[in-house]
Amino acid sequence: MNDDRQIRNLALIGFMATGKSSVGRLAAQALGFAFVDTDELIESRLRKKISEVFAQEGEAWFREYERNIVEEISHYARVVIATGGGLAVNPANLASLKTHALVVCLWGSPETIWNRARHATHRPLLKDPDPLGKIRQLLAARNPHYRQADILISIERRTMRKVSDQVVHEFRLATAAGRRPAAASTP
Ligand code: S3P
Repeated sequence: MNDDRQIRNLALIGFMATGKSSVGRLAAQALGFAFVDTDELIESRLRKKISEVFAQEGEAWFREYERNIVEEISHYARVVIATGGGLAVNPANLASLKTHALVVCLWGSPETIWNRARHATHRPLLKDPDPLGKIRQLLAARNPHYRQADILISIERRTMRKVSDQVVHEFRLATAAGRRPAAASTP
């Protein structure tokens, strides 16, 4: 762990529908932090839904915009940051988050993710004839990036409240006086 890190925020990364926003809100409440969701920030700045941004500007444009938001957030303090599922795939984004935040990845199986995502229609990358296959394929490609998080936390068979409790516990451990975040660990 790089000793230059100044952990003042908590960032949640992970695949779509792993509960980053719900867990992030709960964790922010528990810590007395503000809550920021990168997708919500993008939607409010652009006054467009993410699906419209993808359709009108394309994914590459969205990724560039997302990249700028990550830099902006690096100046924040005492915030819980829920990130879009593809944000951590760009190593520059992950490196930036790690300078100021404990990076926690929420982790679920493709089946759990699909069960959670199947009733939502707002995710452009899951508008696919075989969404479960698409989830498997994207997850396999992204896993090496997600595994760069400081901590990996499973969402399997757990309520969002339980996941949030563990996230908060890990954050408190990592930021306790004189302590540095531990190396990546699996639950
Ligand atoms: C994306 C995930 C979405 C959103 C966009 C792209 C991805 O966020 O940023 O649709 O590439 O996985 P959620 O993880 O909040 O669904």
